[in-house]
Amino acid sequence: MGAIGVFDSGVGGLSVLREIRRELPQETLRYVADSAYAPYGDKPADFVVRRSLALADFLIGSGATSLVVACNTATATAVDTLRERFSVPIVGIEPAVKPAVEHTLAGRVGVLTTSRTALSARFHRLLDRFKGSCQIVVQPCPGWVELVERGVLDGPDAIVAVAQYVSPLVAQGVDVLVLGCTHYSFLSPRSEEHTS
Ligand code: DGL
Repeated sequence: MGAIGVFDSGVGGLSVLREIRRELPQETLRYVADSAYAPYGDKPADFVVRRSLALADFLIGSGATSLVVACNTATATAVDTLRERFSVPIVGIEPAVKPAVEHTLAGRVGVLTTSRTALSARFHRLLDRFKGSCQIVVQPCPGWVELVERGVLDGPDAIVAVAQYVSPLVAQGVDVLVLGCTHYSFLSPRSEEHTS
């Protein structure tokens, strides 16, 4: 049995890798963090497609027989191209809009995401499919990926950065936040503080 190849623009996808390891303890997992090229979220779409193709090619060439794109930005931008180009099963990740809409009492959901995801047609199809009668406030969070890549998960810089994008959403009456980037879960204790 071949390995499962997992990639992200950097360390964010480790949050996904941890869950795969929990569910599939026997599988061989190979992870690539493309940290030298992070963040993807501020780059043009063709850049993200090129990096995703290079990483998929590398992982499949190293024996991966399936791929997990542990990056919302790469999924939104490149998963269709990856599926056209490679015949192995490819699993992507998308912002959890559906469960957020099911949980909101206020009818207002905030989606924290990268600028590239916010611009993508795939993300807007996701919103159209699941938003129902809810108001969805999309908030790009430039700078957060860089903080997580530097290991700044707490302390004054992290608190200021989280408050910058989360406080306005709370002020607008949003009662559920979607962490639409795998890096953001490493900052989530801070996000929870600002919503409670
Ligand atoms: N972890 C990536 C995601 O889920 C971060 C993208 C980036 O590098 O900006 O979107």
